[in-house]
Amino acid sequence: MGKLIDGDNSLLDNDEFDKLDDQHSFGGPWTRIKLEALEKYLVAFNTALSKQSFTRLYIDAFAGTGRCDIKVDGEKKTVDGSARRALATNPAFHKFYFIELRTKKLAALNALGAEYPDKTIEVIKSDANAALKTLCGRYQWRSERAVLFLDPFGMHVEWSTLEAIAKTGAVDVWYLFPYAGLYRQAAKNADALDADKEASRLCNLFSVNFRGVGHDAGVTG
Ligand SMILES: C[S@@+](CC[C@H](N)C(=O)[O-])C[C@H]1O[C@@H](n2cnc3c(N)ncnc32)[C@H](O)[C@@H]1O
Repeated sequence: MGKLIDGDNSLLDNDEFDKLDDQHSFGGPWTRIKLEALEKYLVAFNTALSKQSFTRLYIDAFAGTGRCDIKVDGEKKTVDGSARRALATNPAFHKFYFIELRTKKLAALNALGAEYPDKTIEVIKSDANAALKTLCGRYQWRSERAVLFLDPFGMHVEWSTLEAIAKTGAVDVWYLFPYAGLYRQAAKNADALDADKEASRLCNLFSVNFRGVGHDAGVTG
């Protein structure tokens, strides 16, 4: 039975998201708005660079399956997800990287790739942070330009990953930032934070030590 993640997904922490993801989750109207905006941007990006010699890359670091189930006004429907929209972009990207952790979703991504035998697609089974750092180091970024879509369920993107991406100077980043998860976990009472879990996620998200923020505004890091 599907479960609607209502409102802002980032209210849940990473483990809760993963549990919901296992049960199967539905997006809402905001999911379609997000995907339509991305689609328009991808067309604009490729159009703007089409007269230049850059190799254009699309990187989807939390790629999903290529389809999204949404629930709008009580009605369930399936819409094209980010990976599928990127593949349909015209003018086209030269190369696609789809990064995903979950085995079932990887199978769906491989099947999606098989629908586009003329396109160069790499499906990567990995944590997004590790894969992105590897990809950033793979190119000189002189003759490549990329769009990176960061669409995590929770606070999965580490600050060090953003630093690696920024260093390329060649990647346009769409980051669906989990701000509500941040509010929830940046507790007023720092003692309520589990040192090994929530506090370390906040540290990874911003590369600072957030313990004690609520007490003395002392952000250290
Ligand atoms: C919000 S969904 C992405 C939806 C996709 N952008 C779309 O529009 O179709 C987030 C995806 O990230 C995957 N995921 C979760 N943690 C991950 C991680 N650490 N690295 C890579 N993928 C991860 C989940 O399995 C899920 O498919």
